Amino acid sequence: MQRKNSPIDTARANLSFDTKRSIMKKIVIAIDGHSSCGKSTMAKQLAREVGYIYVDSGAMYRAVTLFALRAGLFEPDGTIRHAELRARMPEVKVSFRLDEASGLPRTMLNGEDVEEAIRTIEVSNCVSPIATLDFVREAMTSLQQEMGKSKGIVMDGRDIGTAVFPNAELKIFVTASAEVRARRRYDELQAKGMPATFEEILHNVQERDYIDSHREINPLRQAPDALVLDNSTLTIEEQNEWLHYQFKQAVGE
Ligand code: CDP
Repeated sequence: MQRKNSPIDTARANLSFDTKRSIMKKIVIAIDGHSSCGKSTMAKQLAREVGYIYVDSGAMYRAVTLFALRAGLFEPDGTIRHAELRARMPEVKVSFRLDEASGLPRTMLNGEDVEEAIRTIEVSNCVSPIATLDFVREAMTSLQQEMGKSKGIVMDGRDIGTAVFPNAELKIFVTASAEVRARRRYDELQAKGMPATFEEILHNVQERDYIDSHREINPLRQAPDALVLDNSTLTIEEQNEWLHYQFKQAVGE
């Protein structure tokens, strides 16, 4: 069967690598950890520095959640209409499009740019139950593995080093206290003018931690060969420096 070029291939083709990077060993970098602990900030920064593709796997679960919300597949009590969502999964096309200005991929749902729409507190409140569903995980995992085939990728999530890329050359497990994470997420939403209270966010962070760690399929857990980073007291610069050092070690520079 002829496969269409995935949007991630287009993103790759658009990236300009300098000579040194193009001959450097390409690896897969898996960054897992608790919600809102700054995984994506560090993953994006590293990808930019070393000319890799950044993939936010959480954005993919968020996009499926947005689809389910829009399609009315949640009961008023929050239960998901599983059978209907399963039947409609073939209609859910999640992809990424490279944003020329920032050099970062934007999340697309059936051709629509949903990068902002998937970050609301409503989606955050509904995403973890969606991410427990076997058919959703299977679909997202195979899409993610496809994206990592040519290496040169930084992917962040919950199960990247354990289930998606168990052979990743560099695995990082990031964490920080729930209060610190909620504060960071609160500041981020405030800066974007998106409404939410600190208490609401803290509750969401704690609830997602619980669901993510206790679900049956591919729960959030640290891969035995992952390097652990507790960034509760680190600045963004300090954590980026730490990650860059680990990257250099992994590629043998
Ligand atoms: O940004 P934040 O770290 O708070 O969350 P996210 O990375 O956007 O992921 C949203 C949710 O998707 C998580 O709370 C998980 O429930 C789910 N997820 C997952 O199950 N597996 C992944 N690889 C990534 C996210």
